[in-house]
Amino acid sequence: MAAADKIVTTTGLLGWVDERFPLTKLFREHMSEYYAPKNFNFFYFFGALSLLVLVNQILTGIFLTMHYKPDAASAFASVEYIMREVNFGWLIRYMHSTGASAFFIVVYLHMFRGLIYGSYRKPRELIWIFGVIIFLMLMGEAFFGYLLPWGQMSFWGAQVIVNLFGAVPFIGPDLSVWIRGDFVVSDATLNRFFAFHVIALPLAICGLVAAHIMALHEVGSNNPDGVEIKKTKDPVTGHPLDGIPFHPYYTVKDLFGVSVFLFVFCTVIFFAPEMGGYFLEANNFIPANPMQTPAHIAPVWYFTPFYSILRAVPPVFESQFPGVACMGLSVMVFFLMPWLDRGAVKSIRYRGSHFKTWLTLFIVSLFILGYLGTQPTDVWGRFGEGVPFVGGAERATWGARLFSVVYFLYFILMPWYTRWDKTKPEPTRVTG
Ligand code: HEM
Repeated sequence: MAAADKIVTTTGLLGWVDERFPLTKLFREHMSEYYAPKNFNFFYFFGALSLLVLVNQILTGIFLTMHYKPDAASAFASVEYIMREVNFGWLIRYMHSTGASAFFIVVYLHMFRGLIYGSYRKPRELIWIFGVIIFLMLMGEAFFGYLLPWGQMSFWGAQVIVNLFGAVPFIGPDLSVWIRGDFVVSDATLNRFFAFHVIALPLAICGLVAAHIMALHEVGSNNPDGVEIKKTKDPVTGHPLDGIPFHPYYTVKDLFGVSVFLFVFCTVIFFAPEMGGYFLEANNFIPANPMQTPAHIAPVWYFTPFYSILRAVPPVFESQFPGVACMGLSVMVFFLMPWLDRGAVKSIRYRGSHFKTWLTLFIVSLFILGYLGTQPTDVWGRFGEGVPFVGGAERATWGARLFSVVYFLYFILMPWYTRWDKTKPEPTRVTG
């Protein structure tokens, strides 16, 4: 009999509930008798922190919606009203805007953990696939939300991104009109983006997070050694010898992580909510003006590596489609990770130099592309013009091209460098 099937007798109110709903059974299965590897480290905080930020975004979002007006004529003023007139409106708004950046920080670290410990590999492919879909939805959620304050950057950012769909062959122009609901970004666009931002995507994200965690609890967590703890069980209890109950051990450990996170989060909210323009851009404190294009349109930091890839690809026959396709591919390629990695071991601890070199190159490319994506067009110059490697403009363009190639090579060459890697033997039991 599996541990979680043991007969539980509860009394009182809990007993009354348990007779009608499997509350204690669920708690045991997913908390007090869910055995997690005992060697979780720093990187294992970020799943729980992603959950925390998700809850923060939903709760603060509900309160913002109470005063926000999804109407092109009053949206900007309603945000100013929240900031100046509504009791603690400024706090709720900064919790939400800082929360958006915090979400990407914790999710990027969460994904990085997956890359270093091979958490995407068999039998966790579905956990990873759900994760990549969540990531795509999160990008959509952030993009839709950014239009809502109806500032200059909201308007022009949406204009640039929706116009990209116009580059899709044959259907492009109709597609971008269909997305906007108009020939330019307008009230119709604001209304539908609001609908997606406050209900459609949050619902989908919550459903996917539930699926993500159910898949995780089906196969069990990976760990910094990449050892499958289910392979070594106690013959008497049937529990993994290298596992400890999630509750209380990891609930307490995660509470510590939550405290440290909240400390940093509050510091940002109270002392640097705009984060020098990285979390909230100065241009977005100017109301949207369809007649005046800002000199420098750049997405928020978490999109800039992908934006750089878009800008790095030169137009072919005057079509921007190759750039748009490469940008799309740069995210979609994550879906293939479980099948691209042919390494003999999962964790970076036992991998050889090939894997480590390519992972480093990938992370460096991501940072450089991210930086270049924040830079204005005059640093980039116009695509294909001038002599390569001469002016600053060309340097940035060619730099972005070089690092975009490195970014993709990390994935394309993965089946080879992981197979040829000189790995160390994986231990049978977790270490440390
Ligand atoms: C709203 C966003 C997300 C939430 C709330 C979330 C939540 C969680 C939680 C609570 C865990 C277990 C604790 C842990 O291992 O840290 C987990 C594990 C995992 N997540 Fe996520 N996740 C999110 C996004 C993602 C994304 C974007 C990816 C990858 C593309 C991803 C991939 C994984 C993997 C592979 C595991 C298993 C890790 C292991 O066992 O080593 N997750 N997630």
